[in-house]
Amino acid sequence: MNDLSGFWAALPRPIVGLSPMDGITDVAARAMACRHGDPSLTITEFVSVEGLTHGAVTLLTDLLYEPDHRPIVAQLYGVDPDAFRECATIATALGFDGIDINMGCPASTVANRGAGAALIKTPELARHLIRAARQGVVDWANGGDLHRLVRHAKVRREAVRRAQALGDRARRVIPVSVKTRVGFDTIEPERWMSELAEESPAAITLHGRTLKQLYSGRADWDAIGRARERLRGSDIVVLGNGDLADRSEAIERARAYGLDGALIGRATVGNPWALSGQSVTVVERLRGALEHADAFETLLPDKPFFAVRKHLHGYCRGFDGAPELRRQLMFATSAAHCRELIEPILVPLAA
Ligand SMILES: Cc1cc2nc3c(=O)[nH]c(=O)nc-3n(C[C@H](O)[C@H](O)[C@H](O)COP(=O)(O)O)c2cc1C
Repeated sequence: MNDLSGFWAALPRPIVGLSPMDGITDVAARAMACRHGDPSLTITEFVSVEGLTHGAVTLLTDLLYEPDHRPIVAQLYGVDPDAFRECATIATALGFDGIDINMGCPASTVANRGAGAALIKTPELARHLIRAARQGVVDWANGGDLHRLVRHAKVRREAVRRAQALGDRARRVIPVSVKTRVGFDTIEPERWMSELAEESPAAITLHGRTLKQLYSGRADWDAIGRARERLRGSDIVVLGNGDLADRSEAIERARAYGLDGALIGRATVGNPWALSGQSVTVVERLRGALEHADAFETLLPDKPFFAVRKHLHGYCRGFDGAPELRRQLMFATSAAHCRELIEPILVPLAA
């Protein structure tokens, strides 16, 4: 491994990590994943580099993490190399262990402006963004000053505050990785991997669908395997992603396709145990729902409570009355309210 690999080189194989999901893998969900799933790594929701550099200071909420979440990677998306450089500086100063560039999001709000999976069509720009992010990392690692490197006053103030708490520990070079898909409208992993490999990102995660497929059909793991073959002989860590139910399936796929590991996304919603493969009882699930609701309120006090509902739904299944409980939880406004709804079911079950 080269010295740009950072924490990736030291991770035990196979790597089984939490896939980033906007609106889902917030700091509370990552806390639950770390407590109950013991993932090899977690990745934040994606953060718009243009948004952050233009002063959207609330985006820094997506870049919250707890000390025991390491290794923790900040995911960024956008198209502007200067904004990538600046946000990579911020992420490094905030103490992240790595930076991941999103080149896989198919949402029209992202791809129509050339970001996310649209970068598969503009490989020169994609490569430029990797170099820009690396430069931003080095700017901070080499002793840069946030007062000079961060343009917007509100973002700068908050970044300085958080960076000061870390001191010089964050003055280090961290690896830059990429998460992408196997093609834009056709499956073309060889062409796309050859382009990315020119910049030697520390790791590449491949979701086995094209942009055009969005989330339809099944992930094409043979295409992920073809990408792996094209990257063989490089130092790039290669992870697969798509439709994995749990840890054992992730390990089985990684072995079958010669990968370093895999990331699990949707199967972890309201089910952090998918990452560890532990089977849990209904009682443990319902306790998990309460713990998650508490974590959400504690770690994200300014976020509207409805943002945690997707997870609560995930925990509340597998017993008579689950659909009715899920319906009631739609209207929950606080962790205490969740407790009122869940405890009448949980207490008799746990007795
Ligand atoms: C609601 C939602 C939000 C997502 N947000 C992101 C994101 O911010 N960054 C990213 O790289 N992928 C994102 N993804 C894609 C997932 O990380 C993952 O690649 C995809 O869901 C396939 O894996 P899975 O079948 O295990 O869920 C998102 C997926 C969903 C469903």
